Amino acid sequence: MAGKERYAGKMELPPETEQPNVYPLTWVSETQKMEEIFKASTKEYWDPDSLPWDTFDVESYSWEERESIAYWWTILSVFDASAPPVFAEALIKCYEVHEEDPVRRCFFSVMRDEQNHEIVCGKFITKLLGHTDPLTYEPKTEIGKKCKKNAQWLYFNGGRYWTGYKKAVPKYSLAVLFSSFLMGEIASSTIFHQMANGCNEPVFQEAFRNIGKDEGRHMAICMSLMERDYPKLDLEDVPTITKQIRAGYLFLSGILFEPPEDFWDIPSDFIANQREAEEIARNAGFGIPTYDEKKENWRTAILNLKGVLDKYNIPFPAIPEVGITGEEISDIDMEDIIPVF
Ligand SMILES: [Fe+2]
Ligand SMILES: [Fe+2]
Repeated sequence: MAGKERYAGKMELPPETEQPNVYPLTWVSETQKMEEIFKASTKEYWDPDSLPWDTFDVESYSWEERESIAYWWTILSVFDASAPPVFAEALIKCYEVHEEDPVRRCFFSVMRDEQNHEIVCGKFITKLLGHTDPLTYEPKTEIGKKCKKNAQWLYFNGGRYWTGYKKAVPKYSLAVLFSSFLMGEIASSTIFHQMANGCNEPVFQEAFRNIGKDEGRHMAICMSLMERDYPKLDLEDVPTITKQIRAGYLFLSGILFEPPEDFWDIPSDFIANQREAEEIARNAGFGIPTYDEKKENWRTAILNLKGVLDKYNIPFPAIPEVGITGEEISDIDMEDIIPVF
């Protein structure tokens, strides 16, 4: 204690603790919906080890198929492997701003779920490739080489936003953060339900069903927070939200659709390689939606989000790529992204 000022001898009660302070010594519960979602998250918790792994005979696939299916899991893990630290950061923010208790718990559940999703990505990649990561893996086929090169570019792109995100979290209100999170959750609950329906293997089906259910809860968490906070939204936040939606579209197109080249820094053969791998995976019974299906699904998900934001009079950005008109937003780069999934 040397050098530290002591107060106990000088006063009856300690001085005020400076705020914001990371630990709220209070357990207010006002948002009933959040209590329900947290309860559901506990009840629906699942263990990646308990998926029907014993039914999955990886040897029944060719190396082209294994590398192509692992490539899709690699794309997913570019988003999901950053989700635990991203939500951990948001969880800390919830504590700092002394969010009510069920909100803190809901955020904890998102972080835990996302780590499960990341674990699942790793398990599939490791099983399919016989190697623990797609970046140092030695490809066995021509398509495998293309997938590895794509994976390296995906990893490079995905890695660029973390510094931006860490700067963004203290800067933005939870209301802004939640509009971005909502976009990711709407997108992800869409894709996992499609994948569950499109896959033949029980282990894929069950993994996608479980992940999709988790994402549905995450979406509900965002919606109830918005219902609570958006009626009293700070007008200054509105243009930021519009911009974040456009940024979210560009970023998430990397998994939901195809990465737009004006934003994703990828080589000119990237898309062709990806389409080739997806075709091989699809023919092997791994149900990646086709280009047109992806486009339609992405459009529907974005329109759902638009429906939510319209209720609060938040202008929607133009997304001409999927035929949605709105406010023209052009000045976005990786630094602006609040990564979401
Ligand atoms: Fe996830
Ligand atoms: Fe999620």
